[in-house]
Amino acid sequence: MTPKTPSESRTTMTDMVLPSETNALQNLFGGELLARMDRAASIAAGRHSRRITVTASVNHVAFNLAVPLGSVVTVEAAVSRAYTTSMEVYIDVWIEDRYNGKRTKANEAIYTFVAVDETGKPTEVPPLKPESDLEKERYAGALRRKQLSLGTGR
Ligand SMILES: CC(C)(COP(=O)(O)OP(=O)(O)OC[C@H]1O[C@@H](n2cnc3c(N)ncnc32)[C@H](O)[C@@H]1OP(=O)(O)O)[C@@H](O)C(=O)NCCC(=O)NCCS
Repeated sequence: MTPKTPSESRTTMTDMVLPSETNALQNLFGGELLARMDRAASIAAGRHSRRITVTASVNHVAFNLAVPLGSVVTVEAAVSRAYTTSMEVYIDVWIEDRYNGKRTKANEAIYTFVAVDETGKPTEVPPLKPESDLEKERYAGALRRKQLSLGTGR
């Protein structure tokens, strides 16, 4: 299969935080952010594989910064490494300053997706060819993460 670059799967979703999506402190509810990240990552995995994809695991989530009500939130997802049928997807979350448009990194997460056929059976995906320094760094880190998770039986 012909390798693909992370740019080919990169998915950007921008949306705002509404009152129904917040916790008691008027910040974005964690589960809502997980869902937004899952959607963006699913699209990225689908763009890389051009197959149906399912979330296999959420490997790492860091809620570093609260995201207040009314914030403009951008979720960016791209495949960081592809294996035989699974893909690691790296997700960055940014919030945008209302007045000057400056973006601040709020959160990040790493999800694993598996490409499946119409019956739900795992199916092969193209390899990933990282280009930028950051993409190469995430690609190398992904293998270490996979090896660690294999140590736990996966
Ligand atoms: C993910 C799923 C397709 C894997 O099916 P399976 O028959 O266990 O697949 P295999 O053991 O052959 O593994 C297939 C690939 O998935 C990976 N994988 C399976 N479970 C995984 C997990 N929990 N975390 C990370 N990777 C996983 C394997 O490492 C393998 O990767 P590789 O082919 O790139 O080496 C299956 O478990 C499934 O459908 N799960 C439900 C998914 C779902 O509904 N998600 C939404 C949750 S609400």
